[in-house]
Amino acid sequence: MNSKIWNFWANKYSKLWVQKYSLRPTRNYIINSISKIKYNEDLNVLDLGCGPGELIEELSNKFDNFHITGLDFSEKMLEISRLKNRKANHILMDVTDLNKLNNKFKIIICTHSFPYYREPVEVLKKLYRLLEDDGRIFMGFASGDSFYDKFVLSFVKLTTGRANYPSHGEFNQMVHGIFTVENYKIIKEKLYMPRIAVYTLRKVRK
Ligand SMILES: C[S@@+](CC[C@H](N)C(=O)[O-])C[C@H]1O[C@@H](n2cnc3c(N)ncnc32)[C@H](O)[C@@H]1O
Repeated sequence: MNSKIWNFWANKYSKLWVQKYSLRPTRNYIINSISKIKYNEDLNVLDLGCGPGELIEELSNKFDNFHITGLDFSEKMLEISRLKNRKANHILMDVTDLNKLNNKFKIIICTHSFPYYREPVEVLKKLYRLLEDDGRIFMGFASGDSFYDKFVLSFVKLTTGRANYPSHGEFNQMVHGIFTVENYKIIKEKLYMPRIAVYTLRKVRK
């Protein structure tokens, strides 16, 4: 899949109705989880599939010790994020090319982007190399866990193109041998919304 569909959504994205019950609650949960860990030192943070940079903006406002990199393959999304987040580093890149990065990150965040990756397990393996040994990944996405979730998400796919929303079991299989699940949270703000799963991942010791 290419980035055209995301370029199309870029300047409408912050006004989409899914912000209220899906995207914003995911960001809030992750920011809250990070606050509880109390990172005091300066550290590198990667926002994978950062979109128009809402999370980068919120993280920068809250944590002045974070050096944030936003990565996305949509130039329009990055354009908007760059305007909002002048201090952050931005990389225009497809996740397939993650092995071109040399930095290490203490925190990697990936919200509502993972389902669109063609080879998700390959991406996870590349993230293993980019994550500090004591680092954490916060990965959130709409989970195709039940028949209802899959049904609703089949309509979402009409607006995003090809996607695979893994169930809890499928995601556990994907991370197996690469990451362990430290924490798993289900967000469901409204009965009619598909559930969102947010995983906190730690590196498996090799
Ligand atoms: C639904 S948006 C999520 C944006 C933001 N993370 C959020 O939570 O609101 C998905 C983002 O993932 C990006 N994306 C999808 N596939 C990608 C890929 N293969 N490489 C890099 N970015 C990708 C899209 O360009 C888009 O900005």
